[in-house]
Amino acid sequence: MKIGIILYSYSGNTLSVGERLKVLLLKKGHEVSLKRIKASDEAPNSGKPIQLTEIPDTSQYDEIILGAPVRAFSLNPIMKAYLAKLPDLQGKKISCFVTEHFPKAWMGGNHAIKQIKRMVSAKNGNIADCGVVNWSNAIREEQINEMLSRFSS
Ligand SMILES: Cc1cc2nc3c(=O)[nH]c(=O)nc-3n(C[C@H](O)[C@H](O)[C@H](O)COP(=O)(O)O)c2cc1C
Repeated sequence: MKIGIILYSYSGNTLSVGERLKVLLLKKGHEVSLKRIKASDEAPNSGKPIQLTEIPDTSQYDEIILGAPVRAFSLNPIMKAYLAKLPDLQGKKISCFVTEHFPKAWMGGNHAIKQIKRMVSAKNGNIADCGVVNWSNAIREEQINEMLSRFSS
């Protein structure tokens, strides 16, 4: 299967999870690309309107895995801007994950996942599976491994 891991990462946490997922999916024999969403000014407090400079294409993939950080108890606005720009996702299987600093998923992660689900559904995509990684949780590694094994099965 042709899988696209499409993510936004500011300080590297989400990227590190996406890279691990890529290695796992490649081992399972899939064709995998990891693409990063980028914006012209990514400073969290810039206050400027978001201008995306890297807008990964979704059309070539059978399955897409989206990844993003939580910001201010919500989905990172750069991922939001990307999702708003996406074309119709009819027939695409979409999984998603978010990373956040706080130790529990209800501290912003679940809300961010709901936001992704809502935006993907509005584009007719089929949500398959989602996960939250709580970076300051003592069992973060288990969380990541459990999520990666779900996503790669
Ligand atoms: C401006 C800003 C706001 C943040 N807000 C939250 C938050 O509300 N809840 C949380 O758990 N983590 C929050 N974080 C932490 C990030 O979500 C967390 O470190 C994430 O793993 C970063 O992913 P990245 O390294 O891929 O950018 C915030 C980080 C920044 C820079």
